[in-house]
Amino acid sequence: MPSKLTVDTGFDALSHAIEAMVSNWRNEFSYAIGLKSIELVFKYLPIVYKDGENQKARDYLHQAATMAGLAFSNSQLHIGHGMGHSWGAVFNTAHGRAVGIVLPYVTQFLLNNSDEEDKTIEIYAKVAKQLGWANWDEEEKKAAFLVIEKIKELQKKVDFPTKLKDLGISREDLEKNLDSLVSCCFEDATVVMSPRSMTDEYFRKLFDYAFEGKDVDF
Ligand SMILES: [Fe+2]
Repeated sequence: MPSKLTVDTGFDALSHAIEAMVSNWRNEFSYAIGLKSIELVFKYLPIVYKDGENQKARDYLHQAATMAGLAFSNSQLHIGHGMGHSWGAVFNTAHGRAVGIVLPYVTQFLLNNSDEEDKTIEIYAKVAKQLGWANWDEEEKKAAFLVIEKIKELQKKVDFPTKLKDLGISREDLEKNLDSLVSCCFEDATVVMSPRSMTDEYFRKLFDYAFEGKDVDF
């Protein structure tokens, strides 16, 4: 498998695990399996990217991808996949590439949720602590945001695009297709799995921020 395809599918698997853990149907199975999958992708994707012949590392990555599939079969996915599906349908981008680019943006959007009942911060803080990215006594919000930093770090390590603009789509093309992109998001079953209620405006802004590579401040 060529390295670009390896990285795209690696980011698809990572998105499956990270989204599955906080979707509205999340459960202990999706958390446990998702956590192990994230650990394996972070460890083995950079190794396989550098050395595609490393069969042992590929085996671990296969296991990670299968486990991420098991995680989301248990709990479904959310708007990262909704936006990725829409983008892929409109601009013909490979699935893993589209969902992997939007992943840090949607994660930040979900962590910005001010609803006190929302569990996203708590869940991602635990991920960061269990994976050794944050100390156990780290403040929850700070620990949770490390998940975004780690995703961005991994993107850099394997030369993965960090914004939708990197795909060679012009601003004009984005604006021309924004209505279709947003309407596809609402047709995607994943929209109802979002732990933060979605609006037309949120999707528009998320596409804009992910296109330009801006920190999500809403
Ligand atoms: Fe996927």
